[in-house]
Amino acid sequence: MKTFIKLTLVLALGLSASSVLAFHDGGVAECAGCHTMHNSQDGALVDADHPNGNAYLLNNGTPSDTCLQCHANYGQHRQGSGFGPGGDFYWVTRTFSWTGHGSTVVSTGDSHGHNVISPAYGIAQDGVLSAAPGGDFLSARLGCTSCHDPHGNQNFRLLYGNDQGPNYSGSRYNFTADAPIAKGNSRTTYTTSGGETDLKHTVYKSGMSEWCANCHTDLHDNNTTNFVHPTRAMGSEIAGKYNAYVSSDNLTGGSAATSYLGLVPFEAVNADLATVSTTNYTTGPTGVDQVMCLSCHRAHASPFADSARWDMSETFLADSHPSVTDINFLQTDVDRKYYNYTLVQNQRSLCNKCHVKDYDDEAYGL
Ligand code: HEC
Ligand code: HEC
Ligand code: HEC
Ligand code: HEC
Ligand code: HEC
Ligand code: HEC
Repeated sequence: MKTFIKLTLVLALGLSASSVLAFHDGGVAECAGCHTMHNSQDGALVDADHPNGNAYLLNNGTPSDTCLQCHANYGQHRQGSGFGPGGDFYWVTRTFSWTGHGSTVVSTGDSHGHNVISPAYGIAQDGVLSAAPGGDFLSARLGCTSCHDPHGNQNFRLLYGNDQGPNYSGSRYNFTADAPIAKGNSRTTYTTSGGETDLKHTVYKSGMSEWCANCHTDLHDNNTTNFVHPTRAMGSEIAGKYNAYVSSDNLTGGSAATSYLGLVPFEAVNADLATVSTTNYTTGPTGVDQVMCLSCHRAHASPFADSARWDMSETFLADSHPSVTDINFLQTDVDRKYYNYTLVQNQRSLCNKCHVKDYDDEAYGL
């Protein structure tokens, strides 16, 4: 209800219907969409929850609260019904537990992704990680505007580049890598217009891993001498496996023309983003295409630990959590955890899409 009232207010402040359809327009949107100069209009408070107003003269609490007054309902925080490539921040508010191998296992909300601090939408600072693993960006300063420029730019998804990093408690956090090169679909992710499928998904071209490493510097294999999973050209052998692999039931029946799995994306380095279709892209990789952070993670959040794209703690994905035997599950959580993707009963970890370690394995439940 609160969201509705605030949205109505934003509309009343002078955004016409058409300007709402294209709000940011690849640049800075109308200031009043996010700011209020006196927290007062027609003699009433603009943000009634904060009578003294907000830092940066925001019209709704924190930066993330301000974004979510519109974006929650587009699918960025919508009870897990946002099937966007980035993922639905609802999941960081959901904790599940169950008994596994004789002890209690907990999948905490905190671990499900980026805790973009938003009191109005139930998101507190991450309780475990005080800073970005592999870097020093403080969790206490994490919000939508740590990654997206609220004043817009021409980068993919308004992400910050290396010209100006995000606001960091009044100063700027330095980004060394530029914004990733990619092309996506609608920001409305709870409908088919922006929901991710095998056919319809972001086409990633380059730079995603370098970009994540702006904050997670040491987790990127180019920045460290540590052993970490590579994020670079796949090579023809692994690209060949990806193309042949359909599922744990069919390891070799696939073909390069149709092998793209939305759940296991890669960077198609030779894609021409000017002409590529993001609504019908099925082509698998060649050896030059890259495994990247988002081959395994979602940028926002997911139902699983470490913002993983699939449950990395179960042998069979059919046993993934949230499940109907978990404490605190909702049926909608269970139904939505794998978007509308169909997985075979015998499906083992999707690491196998590139590595085919499920060769010659037993079926589920045997
Ligand atoms: C989409 C929401 C949004 C819109 C539209 C917007 N702002 Fe902001 N603005 C923010 C947020 C959020 C902050 C707080 C700092 C941060 O998180 O980056 C901010 C901070 C600021 C600041 C102080 C810090 C800085 O980055 O310089 C100024 C000044 C500012 N905005 C001016 C404007 C003006 C002028 C307009 C209209 C031309 C505008 N903003 C439109 C969201 C917005
Ligand atoms: C008044 C409503 C409103 C607010 C507040 C708002 N947005 Fe948006 N946002 C939209 C609309 C409408 C679109 C789609 C049209 C467009 O891109 O201009 C959109 C699109 C986007 C996109 C996708 C752009 C693309 O290139 O596809 C991003 C990213 C985004 N918003 C981030 C933010 C962030 C971060 C904030 C808070 C600082 C914010 N928005 C606040 C309405 C809003
Ligand atoms: C602006 C800095 C910043 C950027 C850019 C960034 N992260 Fe993070 N990330 C953080 C911080 C801070 C945390 C710890 C706080 C939290 O998890 O809420 C974190 C936590 C994580 C976690 C662990 C989540 C958990 O709670 O266990 C994963 C996984 C992750 N990031 C992946 C990524 C990926 C993938 C990208 C690129 C798409 C990325 N990050 C970009 C700041 C960043
Ligand atoms: C850690 C960095 C990070 C944070 C924090 C973050 N985003 Fe994003 N966001 C991204 C990246 C990267 C993408 C592109 C994801 C893709 O296509 O795989 C994205 C995609 C989007 C999109 C396009 C549709 C979708 O859901 O994929 C919108 C809209 C958006 N973000 C809004 C937001 C809002 C609102 C917040 C805060 C509630 C936020 N983002 C916080 C990095 C971030
Ligand atoms: C091959 C899949 C894969 C790729 C690629 C990958 N990750 Fe991970 N990531 C994982 C798994 C699985 C975990 C769980 C912990 C572990 O296994 O180390 C994880 C954990 C994390 C964490 C949480 C660490 C913590 O201490 O809680 C962060 C942050 C993270 N990854 C960021 C990244 C970034 C940034 C990239 C790209 C530079 C990346 N990951 C690439 C699979 C991957
Ligand atoms: C999108 C494809 C892709 C996915 C998905 C993927 N990997 Fe990899 N993996 C690679 C590539 C490429 C290499 C490098 C192979 C090489 O250089 O021979 C690699 C290497 C490895 C290595 C060997 C590292 C070394 O230094 O020898 C291990 C172990 C590994 N991956 C485990 C995993 C696990 C576990 C997962 C799932 C969490 C996973 N991979 C998901 C592509 C992928």
